[in-house]
Amino acid sequence: MKRLAGKTALITGAARGIGLAFAEAYVAEGARVAIADIDIARARAAAADLGAAAIAVEMDVTRQDSIDTAVAETLDRLGQIDILINNAAIFSAAPIVEITREDFDRVFKINVSGALFTMQAVAKHMIERGQGGKIINMASQAGRRGEALVGVYCASKAAIISLTQSAGLDLIKHGINVNAIAPGVVDGEHWDGVDAFFAKYENKAPGQKKREVGEAVPFGRMGTARDLTGMAVFLASHEADYIVAQTYNVDGGNWMS
Ligand SMILES: NC(=O)c1ccc[n+]([C@@H]2O[C@H](COP(=O)([O-])OP(=O)(O)OC[C@H]3O[C@@H](n4cnc5c(N)ncnc54)[C@H](O)[C@@H]3O)[C@@H](O)[C@H]2O)c1
Repeated sequence: MKRLAGKTALITGAARGIGLAFAEAYVAEGARVAIADIDIARARAAAADLGAAAIAVEMDVTRQDSIDTAVAETLDRLGQIDILINNAAIFSAAPIVEITREDFDRVFKINVSGALFTMQAVAKHMIERGQGGKIINMASQAGRRGEALVGVYCASKAAIISLTQSAGLDLIKHGINVNAIAPGVVDGEHWDGVDAFFAKYENKAPGQKKREVGEAVPFGRMGTARDLTGMAVFLASHEADYIVAQTYNVDGGNWMS
């Protein structure tokens, strides 16, 4: 028996990277998936690759009207939402004295309020439907500890860990489990951007930061998106029914808590 048979998932930022790997894993486990992304062309291509179990939904998590439309479209086309993964996020880095209000607002609008109000919209549907659900937020090791050049992104991921705790405690009475995954360093397009930031601020050659962080992981290499899919399937399954408000490190041993 497939572990997510009969389930339907909405995954934000799933047109590429970790979100796309989650969509692939969920379809393999029998779920139907809405690949929701601001990059609708790429979301459509990803959904086409995954076949009939996947649809593409245009969604900008910074806009309430877009959140509401994406949730309504998913319900219209797939009938229900049993699982939400709040995965869409952006990275940013700068020394504290160079952080701008514009960058802070941009990061928090996507990473924090985007995740909160998507969680709220989907939780309303889950409460009304009365069959519980699973919500998985994407945190990061960056949310466990500040970093000199990554203040805004680290704060946004710390906020996700905190919101996961509050929402987890509030929503469990409706049978909705809210938990989070905290990856370490995961190879992919996201990290190309991260590497470029560090090349600028730490005077490193292109690729150098990526190599260094990979070598520093106790497991011995950077993570891949597929390293995270086991936890994402588990947290969405009935096996995780008694798990509430937790954030799990899936990071090759980088962080212990
Ligand atoms: N890659 C890593 O090393 C790493 C480490 C820890 C945590 N994470 C977290 O994992 C998640 C996925 O990371 P990734 O590496 O796959 O990122 P990514 O940059 O490859 O993908 C992010 C996706 O989000 C989409 N997106 C951006 N803004 C959006 C918006 N306003 N509305 C809807 N979609 C939007 C993008 O189009 C893209 O498809 C993020 O929450 C990230 O913070 C990543």
